[in-house]
Amino acid sequence: MSSVPVARVEREAELALIVIRSPPVNTIDATVRAGLGAAVRQVAEDDTVRGVLLLCEGRTFFSGADMGEFSGPPREEEYRQLLNALEALSVPVVAAMHGTVLGGGLEIALACHYRVAEPATRLGMPEVTLGIIPGAGGTQRLPRLIGAEQALDLILSARPVAAARAHELGLVDAVISGDLRSGAAAYLRDLIAAGKSVRRTGEMVVPAATTTPEIFERATERARKLYPNRRAGLVAIDAVRAATRLPFAAGLEYETQRVNECKQSTESKGAVHAFFAEREARRIPGLSQDVQPRPYAAVGVVGAGTMGCGIAVCCADAGIPVTLLDANASALERAVGTIDRTYQSMVERGRIGLEEKESRMQRIRPSLDYADLARADVIVEAVVEDMALKQEIFRKLDAVAQPGAVLATNTSTLDIEQIAGVTARAHDVIGMHFFSPANVMPLLEVVRTTRTSMAVIRTVMDLAKALRKTPVLAKVCYGFIGNRMMEGYAREAERMVLEGAAPRAIDSALEAWGMAMGILGVFDMAGIDVGVNVHVANAQRFPPDPTYYQADFALHEAGRLGQKNGRGYYRYEPGSRTRIDDPQAVEILRARARSLQVSPRMHSEREIVERCLYPLLNEGLRILEEGVALRASDIDVVWTAGYGFPRYRGGPMFHADTIGLPALLDGMHKYRDIFGPMHWQPAPLLVQLVEQGRTIAQWEAEGGARR
Ligand SMILES: NC(=O)c1ccc[n+]([C@@H]2O[C@H](COP(=O)([O-])OP(=O)(O)OC[C@H]3O[C@@H](n4cnc5c(N)ncnc54)[C@H](O)[C@@H]3O)[C@@H](O)[C@H]2O)c1
Repeated sequence: MSSVPVARVEREAELALIVIRSPPVNTIDATVRAGLGAAVRQVAEDDTVRGVLLLCEGRTFFSGADMGEFSGPPREEEYRQLLNALEALSVPVVAAMHGTVLGGGLEIALACHYRVAEPATRLGMPEVTLGIIPGAGGTQRLPRLIGAEQALDLILSARPVAAARAHELGLVDAVISGDLRSGAAAYLRDLIAAGKSVRRTGEMVVPAATTTPEIFERATERARKLYPNRRAGLVAIDAVRAATRLPFAAGLEYETQRVNECKQSTESKGAVHAFFAEREARRIPGLSQDVQPRPYAAVGVVGAGTMGCGIAVCCADAGIPVTLLDANASALERAVGTIDRTYQSMVERGRIGLEEKESRMQRIRPSLDYADLARADVIVEAVVEDMALKQEIFRKLDAVAQPGAVLATNTSTLDIEQIAGVTARAHDVIGMHFFSPANVMPLLEVVRTTRTSMAVIRTVMDLAKALRKTPVLAKVCYGFIGNRMMEGYAREAERMVLEGAAPRAIDSALEAWGMAMGILGVFDMAGIDVGVNVHVANAQRFPPDPTYYQADFALHEAGRLGQKNGRGYYRYEPGSRTRIDDPQAVEILRARARSLQVSPRMHSEREIVERCLYPLLNEGLRILEEGVALRASDIDVVWTAGYGFPRYRGGPMFHADTIGLPALLDGMHKYRDIFGPMHWQPAPLLVQLVEQGRTIAQWEAEGGARR
C-alpha cells in the first residue's frame, strides 16, 4: 500500500493547489471523492488562500466516474454535495486538465470557476452510450456554460472534443502549452491580479439564443436517429431543457431523478454489462500469473490477402515489425499497394502524418521466402480457407520457425487440431481469429486446441492487448464462438429471401432491431465468394437441407460477388457502398427458390428478427454448455465487438435472459412447428433452465459448465 495520500494541498504563496494522485487514471472512486472533499474543506477554512488550482498527477485529469459503483446505491447526492462545495469556494478555482477528461471528470471541472487544459487534452460526456445521462450536474452546468445547443451536441455525440475546440466552445478558458502546473498557476495569478473573482457555473443563466424550440427539436430528431430503441439521449434533452427552466438546485434534483431512472433501464444494464464483459474476458481461469508470455517483438504473416494485410497493418500500428509473406509475387505487390492506400487515407483524414505513415510502412517487410520468418516470435497464417493448404503451410512453418515461436492460424472455421497435428510442436499452435477489416475491428477470438500451452495463450492474450484488440478465448469447434452462432442467423436470412423476402426487408428489420448492419449487406461487403469458399470448405457438415445457403450459391453462380463487383444481394454504383435494390438479384433468388420448390411466405418484421435471432441465441446456449466459451459474457463480447450486435442489448446471452428463456424456448417451438425440427431443436441447456425456472446468469453464478 502506498502511503501517499490521494489528495493533498500544496501552497504556492497565496495559491492553494489541490493535487490528486490516484493511479492509473484518477478514477473518481470513494477514496478520491473523500480526499477531494477533505481538501476542499481545508482550503475553504484557510483565509490566507486567494485562489485554488485543482490538478491531477499521472496520465490524466479525473478520467471519469468509477464504473464499479454503477450497480451499487446511487451516489448522485454525494457527488452533488462535493461539487457544490467546490463551486461554493469564495476564491477563484481553476481546473488544470490534461489527458482524457470524461463524464464525471468533466463534471468536476465544470464545478470549478475557470478551466485550462493542455493542448492534447480531450474532453467529453459519453454517458448516453452507457444508457444514462451525466448525473453529477453535467446536464445543468454544461448548458449554462456553453449554451444548450452546444451542450446537447457534446452530450448526444458522446465524443470527446480536443482542447482547441473546447476553447472555442467556452468549455476551456485557456489552452496552456508547456508545463501545465506552472502555466495554470500563472493563469490563476493573472486572474487574481486582474481582480477577477469567483465565477460559478451554477449561477449562470443558459443563453436564451441557444434554447429555441427548433434547437430542441433538432436535438430530439438527432437522438432518435443516433440512438434508436434507446431513451437516454431523449432523457438528456429533457434534463438540458430543465436547465433552461428550473433554478439550478431544482435542476440538479431533476437530473438526479432522471439518471436514477435511466440506471434501471435495460439499455443501461446492457451497455454496462458489455463494458464489464470485456474486462472479464481477459481473465482466464487456470492461467496463473506465473505463466510468463513469450516474446512477441517480431511478427510474421503468411498470406497477403484481405486479412493478411489487415493483420500486418494492425501490428505496424502497434509498433511491431512484420514480415508479410505470400506465395505469389503479384499478390504481394498488390498487398503493398493496399497497405499504402490504407495509410494514405489515414493521412488524408488527418489521423497520422506522412512521416508516421512512412515509419509504419517500413515496419512491414514483404517477402516471398519462408526463410525470412525464421526470426519471427509469432507467425499468423492467413491464406485461403483450405485445410490441405493450411497444413502444407504449417509443415513449412514447423521447419523454419525458431523454437518457441507461436504458430497461429486465422482460420474462420477449420479444425485447428488438424492444423496443429501436422507439426512437431502442436503446443505452440493456436487460433488468432481476426475480423475484417483486421486493423479496425476490435475483436480477436483466441482459439486454444487441447494441446495449446498456457504460455502460448498468455502470449497471444498479451499480444492482443498490445494490438488494442478485445480478446476472447474459445475452444476449437466449427466456427468457434462467433461464426458458429452466425450459422443459424445467416441460414434463416438466406432462407427468407428464398421464401420471397426482399433483401432490404431482411436487413432493415435487423437494423431496426439494432444490428449495426443487416446480414445480407454484410455478405455483400465481405464478398459472396468469401462466404461460398467457407461453405465449400465445410460442405461435409451441411445438414440434409437442399435450400441450405442456396441464396449465396445462386448469386455466386451468377457472378455476383458483392460490393467488389458492384453486384450481390444489392447493386452498387462504382465507388459507392450504398445498397440499391436490384430486381435482377431478386429474379435470380426467385428462380433458385422455384427450382428448389421453396414455398413463398409473408414475413413480418417480427418474424424476420425472431428467425434470425432465436437460432443465434439457442446456439449460444449450446456453446456455453459445451464449454467452448468460458462464460456467457464472453459470448456477448464476441457479438458486440465482432458482429455489430447492439451493446445496449448487452450481447446475445444477456439478451436471452432479458427476453426470458421461456420466451426463447416458445419461439424455437413455434418455428419448429412450422418448419420442422431440423434447424429448430432447442439446446438441451435451454430446456433444462426453463424447466428449472432459472436464467443463464443464475446458472453461471452457480458454476455453469464447470460444475
Ligand atoms: N475475409 C474475411 O472476412 C475473413 C475474416 C476472418 C478470417 N478470415 C480467414 O482468413 C484467411 C484468409 O482470408 P482472406 O479473405 O484474407 O483471403 P484472401 O484470398 O484475400 O488472401 C489469401 C492470400 O493467401 C495467399 N496464398 C495462397 N497460397 C499461399 C501459400 N501457399 N503461401 C503463402 N500465401 C499464399 C494468396 O496469394 C492471397 O494473397 C482464411 O482462412 C479466412 O477464412 C477471413
